[in-house]
Amino acid sequence: MKKFLATMASTLMAVSLVGCGASTSAGTPAPAASEAPAATAEAAPAATAEAAAAATDGDLSTKKVGVCIYQFSDNFMTLFRTELENYLISLGFSKENITIADGANDQATQTNQIDTFITDGVDVLIINPVNSSSAATITDKVVAANIPLVYINREPDESEEARWKDNGWKVTYVGCDARQSGTMQGEIIADLGLDAIDFNKNGKVDYIMIEGDPENVDAQYRTEFSVKALTDKGLEVNCLSDQVGNWDQTQGQQLVANALGQFGNDVEVVFCNNDAMALGAKQAIADAGRTVGKDIYLVGVDALTEVCEDVLSGAITGTVFNDHIAQSHSSADAAVNFLTGKTNEYYIGCDYVKVTKDNAQSILDSLK
Ligand code: BGC
Repeated sequence: MKKFLATMASTLMAVSLVGCGASTSAGTPAPAASEAPAATAEAAPAATAEAAAAATDGDLSTKKVGVCIYQFSDNFMTLFRTELENYLISLGFSKENITIADGANDQATQTNQIDTFITDGVDVLIINPVNSSSAATITDKVVAANIPLVYINREPDESEEARWKDNGWKVTYVGCDARQSGTMQGEIIADLGLDAIDFNKNGKVDYIMIEGDPENVDAQYRTEFSVKALTDKGLEVNCLSDQVGNWDQTQGQQLVANALGQFGNDVEVVFCNNDAMALGAKQAIADAGRTVGKDIYLVGVDALTEVCEDVLSGAITGTVFNDHIAQSHSSADAAVNFLTGKTNEYYIGCDYVKVTKDNAQSILDSLK
């Protein structure tokens, strides 16, 4: 991971715009993730947090935690928030003192929820912003109320993270570097070899891209780095279609159905920025009479249980484990650190894991 981040840090990041071969805004600075120490979750391991919790003599049971999730219906964030709540309780927080709010994918709704948490005097906030570009506004009001803040999953930009550090604020971000997940998706495809991928024998990898919400750095980086992994291995690529599916299964299915209708057998690879959309794509592929592994390939990100099972059966080529367990635990540990007078790194990272037929069963076992 360190090596990965070091390599990435030296690269000038470009934000990919939606649309095949869209120009990139060269010189766009990398988010603070690139400068962050690798796997700084080590700075607040569970053992430390538990020790800290113990040191407060059960005090955590009286602490009020406000959690804002961008949208409850998101599959991945459902896994995340469920694990977060269970882990907070295991650390000694009381269930009735943990309030989790559904932002319903609307920043105004979420901002109202944050205002209410502040008025209610919560002791710490854990926020998965609807729009990461709203982070500065959110940080300002939470810091003014003297409440420590842990951002999760949607990374604020570099200048925002720099403010926390410059001002010594009790604010941090917990998440993974999406460049790594994109790279792993591309590698899963590249490892198949051009002969296996190139069904139409034009010498290129013909693909369609289904993106998450383009405001998210996760969507931007997975889109860019999945393709980069192919070209880095010397493969020529041809983007047939690049569409926004907003992390959503139904939208993913519709977009892939449309692309298969338009480009037919020329579609050799379907990249989805997450597993929910890959599940939609799987359905569209079946409906079009195509067969993953025989005449098309499909990859996602998250390693949802259903997708790991599909990887085992061959219905999906591969995915990338987005470790909601490590991320939810790190965010709870960071909250405890703030509550017990300790500090956190300003970026707490986590590694992705490539998932293919070879290890899908062990990932499934680890999720049980
Ligand atoms: C996950 C997606 C999820 C998104 C929400 C991403 O890291 O891979 O499944 O929809 O986070 O922000």
